[in-house]
Amino acid sequence: MMLDNRTCVVTGSSRGIGRGIAEELGRHGANVVVNYRSSEGEAYDVVEQIESEGGTAIAVQADVTDGVEVEAMHETVTNTFGTTNVLVNNAGITVDTIFEKMTRDEWNHVMDVNLGGVYNCTNTFFSDLKQADHGRLINISSVVGQQGNYGQANYATTKSGLFGLTRTLALELASFNTTANCVAPGFVKTAMLEEVSDEVKEKIRQRIPLDRFADPDDIAGIVRFLASRDSAYMTGQILGVNGGIEW
Ligand SMILES: NC(=O)c1ccc[n+]([C@@H]2O[C@H](COP(=O)([O-])OP(=O)(O)OC[C@H]3O[C@@H](n4cnc5c(N)ncnc54)[C@H](OP(=O)(O)O)[C@@H]3O)[C@@H](O)[C@H]2O)c1
Repeated sequence: MMLDNRTCVVTGSSRGIGRGIAEELGRHGANVVVNYRSSEGEAYDVVEQIESEGGTAIAVQADVTDGVEVEAMHETVTNTFGTTNVLVNNAGITVDTIFEKMTRDEWNHVMDVNLGGVYNCTNTFFSDLKQADHGRLINISSVVGQQGNYGQANYATTKSGLFGLTRTLALELASFNTTANCVAPGFVKTAMLEEVSDEVKEKIRQRIPLDRFADPDDIAGIVRFLASRDSAYMTGQILGVNGGIEW
């Protein structure tokens, strides 16, 4: 299969988009690491689902903001599967409010998870990605990083930040035949979107040319392609998967 013998770590894959990605990678033969912070039951459900389809997966708890926990996750992954080929930095949060009312704690919290977590995981798995056969770094950004969004100054800043990081690491990893790319989803039906009021959701939907919100599977297929050898000549790119709301 497309991802046979490839070890793929997906941060924040107990739910939502991460879950869709983990299951898709498992379906195509990868050894999948289902990382979670607190949703243990859901993470084990994902592992069970992957195994029920003939795949291989383990669940590993680690808060991506905690460097020690990320190191421990790396050790578990290495002991179980050896070198990691693919890191998908997917874990992310929102803490929304207009900028005028945003406290420094609300700003810091989102930076800490959405950028600090990416730093911790990328830093810890960096030597694996360099050594791996067709190493892949895949960062999950957002259309909000491209367009900005009312009430999401902290979140939009982190998601734009991933563009600069991805392009820089694409340069620094190129000589190791390892690529770094960004996926920028539009609005996806997960718990994160549920936090938005029905009125705002309807306004957003009316702006989407394909006239629907994405399902996690719409994002997962693109990540599966990036994780595979087929994407070998693509690096430093931002792939918009957004129903046509941005290009
Ligand atoms: N939904 C959208 O419309 C949308 C659009 C564009 C981009 N995105 C991006 O896609 C990614 C996933 O979003 P989603 O909608 O699937 O979110 P979600 O349904 O809220 O799920 C978030 C996942 O991240 C994990 N997580 C959160 N904080 C963590 C931490 N500190 N350490 C480890 N794991 C952590 C959660 O694990 P626990 O349950 O264990 O806490 C959960 O598995 C995010 O980066 C988000 O910015 C989402």
